[in-house]
Amino acid sequence: MDVTDVILDQHAEQRRLFLALHELRGDSDTARVATLWGDLARVLEVHAAAEEEHFYPMLLEVRGEEAADETEDAIKDHGEIRDAIAESRRHEPGTTAWWDAVVAAEKANSDHMAEEERDDLADFRRYADLDLRHETAVALLSYEAENHDGVGPRDLDPEEYVEEHLPA
Ligand SMILES: [Fe+2]
Ligand SMILES: [Fe+2]
Repeated sequence: MDVTDVILDQHAEQRRLFLALHELRGDSDTARVATLWGDLARVLEVHAAAEEEHFYPMLLEVRGEEAADETEDAIKDHGEIRDAIAESRRHEPGTTAWWDAVVAAEKANSDHMAEEERDDLADFRRYADLDLRHETAVALLSYEAENHDGVGPRDLDPEEYVEEHLPA
């Protein structure tokens, strides 16, 4: 098992769920839209937290300073996704303000996934050996299983995060 494949698969699932959500745009059954978004928002938050707990620390371990900027970018992106999710929770599902927040989350997530796949996953595949990619996959999936019902609010400072996780 390779953590970069696991993350790619989870990104594909997130893209599918956003497409399903758009299918429901204009649906009079707002409870259905709200339930799907509630589930997707939880998935996005758990995924980002799992990467912060298990993927990025390993990337910094393997790449050191070389991965500092890209990791800072990723943590900043995760913050933008979380902010858009938090904004959506301040509005009634199905309203324009709610959809605006959902679409902002989608845009932030879609930009972030593209960058993460191109830079961070590619780097980890290149520089981490298969044993480490396997161990990281197991750690990430275990974390997601333990936190399946959702993670609490997180507000990480990107610079502090990198400093904290860079090997001494
Ligand atoms: Fe990410
Ligand atoms: Fe990701």
